[in-house]
Amino acid sequence: MVDLSNNFLGKTAPNPTVLASGFMGVTGLSMASAAKHGAGMVTIKSLSLQPRKGHKTPVIVGFDMGMLNAVGLSNPGVEFGVEELKVAKKAAKVPVIASVFADTTENFAKAAAAVMPAQPDFLEIDISCPNVDSEFGIPFAADPKSATDVARAVKKVVGSVPLIVKLSPNVTQIVPIAKAVEAAGADALNCINTLKGMVIDPIARRPVLTNKFGGISGPALKPVAIRCVYECYGAVKIPIIGTGGVTTGQDAVEMMMAGASAVGVGSALYYRGLDAFNLIATEMKDWMKKEGFSSPKDLVGLAHGQ
Ligand SMILES: Cc1cc2nc3c(=O)[nH]c(=O)nc-3n(C[C@H](O)[C@H](O)[C@H](O)COP(=O)(O)O)c2cc1C
Repeated sequence: MVDLSNNFLGKTAPNPTVLASGFMGVTGLSMASAAKHGAGMVTIKSLSLQPRKGHKTPVIVGFDMGMLNAVGLSNPGVEFGVEELKVAKKAAKVPVIASVFADTTENFAKAAAAVMPAQPDFLEIDISCPNVDSEFGIPFAADPKSATDVARAVKKVVGSVPLIVKLSPNVTQIVPIAKAVEAAGADALNCINTLKGMVIDPIARRPVLTNKFGGISGPALKPVAIRCVYECYGAVKIPIIGTGGVTTGQDAVEMMMAGASAVGVGSALYYRGLDAFNLIATEMKDWMKKEGFSSPKDLVGLAHGQ
């Protein structure tokens, strides 16, 4: 018998899938809808202290193996988001992850404190968006010292709410960053945010996105995400949400074998619709049944051998 229920830092989810931040927006009911369609946990679109418009369109383009986006972290701000998180907490019936980002360490702590009244099950900090460099400079996730400062400052204001730090693949070495945020008090990692890229329109003779650069997500990102999860799993003791290109149940199995304890799902919603969560969970279950596994926890880190 396969039982897909999954324990992540003491919270039980019906399966290892997690709605990734940035998909399904910021409303409590849209997060609840993802849960109804099988998401094991749900993450709100990252919130900032003040509302943000984001970049000028076009902000998203598909290519043969994935998507490139430079939405620019548009969101209605923490004041709006905290109320929606309260709705999600009541309606979703699965663990709810708040997500915040900011331009300074101090504002990260302020944004984190502002969502605490919603009592999210976890707080994720997005220190790794690759699409806002022109405004915010190099992401905090690109440097162990900056990543440490933010993680430490946020940890001070979240009390008993576990802190998840979302890391970037846009670094030469991810392991020192992972170790630094673990030492700073992070309770979990989310590997990874999008990979910086560009798509050119040959007829227009210019990049498609107004921001020129964007973040690659979807199937093209999967091997990068799996590599990052694998490297971090070997270096830290805290659990990892593996995010990047998971589209099928087998992708989720591979991510867990690399070392993920839960699996983020984002772009798959574009390819498979909202039912992606149910489909991925069912495919995982079928795969595990065929291969003789009874619980997702038995898959975690298997690719590392004995
Ligand atoms: C349109 C779009 C918006 C996103 N917004 C956020 C965000 O607000 N915060 C965040 O931490 N990650 C954001 N991400 C990154 C995703 O959460 C995820 O890390 C990435 O897309 C890789 O997963 P996937 O291949 O399953 O989509 C966004 C990604 C996309 C494509």
